[in-house]
Amino acid sequence: MPSAPETSSQQARLEWDEQGQPLSSQFADVYFSNENALAETRYVFLANNQLPERFAALTANQQLVIGETGFGTGLNFLCAWQLFEQHATATARLHFVSVEKYPLNCADLQRALALWPELAPYAEQLLAQYVALHPGFQRLVFADGRIVLTLLIGDARELFGQLDAQVDAWFLDGFAPAKNPDMWTPELFAELARLSHASTTLGTFTSTGYVRRRLNEAGFKMKRVPGLGKKWEVLKGGFIGTAETAEKPWFARPQQPVGERSALVIGAGLAGCATAASLAQRGWQVTLLERHGAIAQEASGNPQGVLYLKLSAHHTTLSRLIVSGYGHTRRLLEQLHKGTDWDNCGVLQLAFDVKEALRQAQLAAAFPADLLTNLDRSAAEAKAGITLPAGGLFYPEAGWVHPPALCALLSQQPNIQLRLHQEALELRRDGDSWQAWNDKQLLASASVVVLASATEIKGFTQSAGLPLKRIRGQITRLPATAASRALNTVVCAEGYVAPARQDEHTLGASFDFNSDNLTLNSADHASNLQLLDEISPELCGALNAAALDPEHLQGRAAFRCTSPDYLPIVGPLADTTAFAEAYAVLSKDARQVPDTPCPWLEGLYINSGHGSRGLITAPLSGELIAAWLNNEPLPVPADVAQACHPNRFALRALIRNKA
Ligand SMILES: Cc1cc2nc3c(=O)[nH]c(=O)nc-3n(C[C@H](O)[C@H](O)[C@H](O)COP(=O)(O)OP(=O)(O)OC[C@H]3O[C@@H](n4cnc5c(N)ncnc54)[C@H](O)[C@@H]3O)c2cc1C
Ligand SMILES: C[S@@+](CC[C@H](N)C(=O)[O-])C[C@H]1O[C@@H](n2cnc3c(N)ncnc32)[C@H](O)[C@@H]1O
Repeated sequence: MPSAPETSSQQARLEWDEQGQPLSSQFADVYFSNENALAETRYVFLANNQLPERFAALTANQQLVIGETGFGTGLNFLCAWQLFEQHATATARLHFVSVEKYPLNCADLQRALALWPELAPYAEQLLAQYVALHPGFQRLVFADGRIVLTLLIGDARELFGQLDAQVDAWFLDGFAPAKNPDMWTPELFAELARLSHASTTLGTFTSTGYVRRRLNEAGFKMKRVPGLGKKWEVLKGGFIGTAETAEKPWFARPQQPVGERSALVIGAGLAGCATAASLAQRGWQVTLLERHGAIAQEASGNPQGVLYLKLSAHHTTLSRLIVSGYGHTRRLLEQLHKGTDWDNCGVLQLAFDVKEALRQAQLAAAFPADLLTNLDRSAAEAKAGITLPAGGLFYPEAGWVHPPALCALLSQQPNIQLRLHQEALELRRDGDSWQAWNDKQLLASASVVVLASATEIKGFTQSAGLPLKRIRGQITRLPATAASRALNTVVCAEGYVAPARQDEHTLGASFDFNSDNLTLNSADHASNLQLLDEISPELCGALNAAALDPEHLQGRAAFRCTSPDYLPIVGPLADTTAFAEAYAVLSKDARQVPDTPCPWLEGLYINSGHGSRGLITAPLSGELIAAWLNNEPLPVPADVAQACHPNRFALRALIRNKA
């Protein structure tokens, strides 16, 4: 099991020389050549990896994956993107994975990239997405999915160790080996080798003998070739070793589905819309089936949801998923209208008792201050604009979202056909494709099906055994008043209240594990008002809460869909009976790893179980499904993907039998 990533990211400390070029104060080295950076990048990394020819040779829907050590200013990334635009066919895709331990802040990045006016169209897009880049895996999507950047924020060896990917070309660019030996170690090269295949190439600016020898030892065949300008020689080469795959078969990637790239996504809430978007952007023809007359009618239909990060100072798989998912959603929101569709007003989590205050202090020590910061009571009140019983943790880039707007953004894309009033009740296999049926009516068919219908997934025989549960929740809507408009941020304790959207506040939310009834009830309204009182008696007064009759309040009720371990369920599905037979030995000895391939239900995937945090986990889970289906680098660490894998339950059941 990989270790948890370093989480207190440090920003790059820069100096600028007289030509306006950045230098790293941490490493006393330059980010790129002072003389001819563009030419050097194009030669050392692009030409020496034969990228012009390889981009031109990509066929429709094919992709090329570049891996880089040291993202820095993103110059290499932008040059690769520009070259890709010049050479690759319209439906080909570029996936760039890079790592950065000391990210530049946005102002420094802007200043550095201004050096290259010809890259401005690409640099602007990078800068527009350069938000919420916190430690761990961060996904950035450009040009409607044609260019995907998976940025690993943290130490190279640690994070490449968690990457599940097949890299076609490597750029090694981690400062001079003498100034930064950590980026040129045998351990890091072993990880690069693990991620390589028989056609993987590698280019680097250094010609240092020990780098060449260590790369050779790791399985690359490197040679010195002439350099540019003052650089006499550089290295280029390719992978000739054998990449070891010690994967457990139940977490291995299923074979790519045969046949046309068509997918049927069942359910048009956040999970379904996000999955449809991620597949459509990769050239899949997606049919999105929804039983209601519009998208986002169930859990994803609230007027305001909160980007609420419940993190762990121990960096559990769930906590790392949340940091990655938050970053991805937060960048998507940049495309929506601020004020009506979302607002980055910040989220304040009150330290409402001693235990919570202690937990928050641990979190503040474990995460960087641009993600969350501890505020004392008066600082918290200044941010929130109202009086509060305590200080708390403030998430400056978070806020509220109108989930239906996010669903609309995701589902309104070329390649997605939304079909409303279509309730899929049965799935049948027909040759290489799946069919969705409602009684005697064939609704649609495709080579891939993604189940995104929350707990209704249990209605299909193929997925009936998944342990999904419904939890009823009710929110209360309150009209804003002159005094309540002072609220500037979302404030959460056991419940939450958001600044007004369209002059109405949302208070939430109740939890009922036993109710199947979605009729609004006054008890839940009363409990939401009680939760508000715990947040701020002053705000309660401003909203005239004492005078409100819970019988006559407006609100909305829906079911959350949760799994027993509170992680979503995302990935390919296997045949339950065949799985239990194939891996029966695990019930006697849990350490066994039989080499029997997993009995996948070919082309059947699930994206569900997002519980109370779908705004954060569902969009990135769409990317995860697309990565499984397109043999792309996964957008989360391998252990996080495994923690979300549908097979985890069948596996646990087998192992528990052992006792
Ligand atoms: C009261 C409440 C408050 C919440 N607050 C927050 C919050 O502040 N922040 C946050 O991040 N999350 C919050 N959540 C959770 C969040 O809303 C969910 O995690 C998210 O909406 C789940 O999305 P989904 O697509 O999985 O499910 P849903 O939105 O329920 O979508 C499932 C869709 O599948 C459709 N469907 C079902 N069966 C079929 C079928 N057989 N055929 C065709 N279509 C079908 C349904 O009609 C529905 O549209 C809250 C949830 C509730 C209930
Ligand atoms: C020469 S610069 C990269 C230049 C970059 N490719 C560009 O296009 O601008 C090297 C980068 O590696 C990063 N770095 C150094 N040590 C690292 C480590 N151990 N893990 C991850 N990144 C590291 C530095 O912060 C720096 O940004």
